[in-house]
Amino acid sequence: MQYLTHIENATGQRLDPGTPHSAPPQQRLRARYDLEKMRREIPRDAISKGPASLWRYAPLLPADPQNAVTLSEGWTPLLPAPRLARSLGMSRLLIKDEGRNPSGTFKDRGASVAVSRYRELGVNTVAHNSSGNAGGSWSLYAARAGITCVNVLPTDALPASRQHCRAGGQPVFLLDNWHIGGRLIEEACQREGWLNICTLREPYRLEGKKTMGLEIAEQLGWRMPDAVVYPMGGGLGALAIYKAFEELLALGWINGRLPRLYITQYDGCAPLVRAWEEGASECMPWGAIEIPPGGLKSPNPPGGSAILELLREHGGGALTVSAVEAFAAVDEMTSAEGIFPCPESATTLAGLRKARERGWIGADDEVVLICTGSGLKSIPSLADCEFPIIGSSAQLHA
Ligand SMILES: Cc1ncc(COP(=O)(O)O)c(C=O)c1O
Repeated sequence: MQYLTHIENATGQRLDPGTPHSAPPQQRLRARYDLEKMRREIPRDAISKGPASLWRYAPLLPADPQNAVTLSEGWTPLLPAPRLARSLGMSRLLIKDEGRNPSGTFKDRGASVAVSRYRELGVNTVAHNSSGNAGGSWSLYAARAGITCVNVLPTDALPASRQHCRAGGQPVFLLDNWHIGGRLIEEACQREGWLNICTLREPYRLEGKKTMGLEIAEQLGWRMPDAVVYPMGGGLGALAIYKAFEELLALGWINGRLPRLYITQYDGCAPLVRAWEEGASECMPWGAIEIPPGGLKSPNPPGGSAILELLREHGGGALTVSAVEAFAAVDEMTSAEGIFPCPESATTLAGLRKARERGWIGADDEVVLICTGSGLKSIPSLADCEFPIIGSSAQLHA
């Protein structure tokens, strides 16, 4: 059953969903569905009978599930974190563990849904610049779909992401000056006729990532938490989670207030935090990027103004975390809860601690940290393991 009706842009114009669209992020291309019809035809409980993947939400997705390009992504656990909660003086802390996805990050959600839709629409080649995780993920899904994904990655992209692209047989170009990545892709797409799938240029990655919000609501028993903490790069994931909540509200499957949103960024690339602190309505491009390899490398976030709107509308805040604090938070989350996050994700824990200290988040607030990826993707960045070398088993008993 398909409910996708059209693609809407920032001026409210309705675009044909039967052809691919790619436009500057300010045009805010968004997929729209006949939610009224869905409300009449699909009972909420039918969802729980679906597969244990994001495709359980097929009615709210743009592609026919029969055509899904899937590696069984999504339906990741929402794990209680009682020890961390206690150390933060809180009663309810949950971690959405996106590290369980096939390539180790939440990027697989966007890749599965968008690649499925573009294959339906007959697209052969897509192209983007990615700090690494999306590039690796899209390369796997492009390989599975039999299409090509051209990747421009920064020179410090993590080995795991490079290997996903290489082993997946997808083209990769490395770029030193990350500030020009978007422009290079735009020019190449115009020249070669590729589809530009850079962050928030097209509507379907957002539809895939939206399933994080759908899952959080379903896993909480069809309700929303009080607050969400999200490690922001371009802003796509957080926007997607809020689109999910809005659609669920429109369907009548949940009710209540949307959660407050807390954004974390590394202090070496924090255009959103700066804009929020200055009360601005859009982000100014960040200068030199000084952050560890991996995600959150977005000096001019395409979703910046839309995220600032969410903060104004629903409350919350934005704060920076240093690399040292993020790496300490990797160890803290792992040793307290056994959840091994990448440092980008661990910024949420370090940020939550600061938000508690500032009194932004109350002791009884129910908070969800979005752990966007696994620490397995970041092994080369983590501290060396310095263990004693022992010569014989006798030494173990000494
Ligand atoms: C692990 C990880 N977390 C978070 C992000 C931020 O994602 P978004 O562009 O949705 O803000 C990225 C991408 O930059 C990432 O790779």
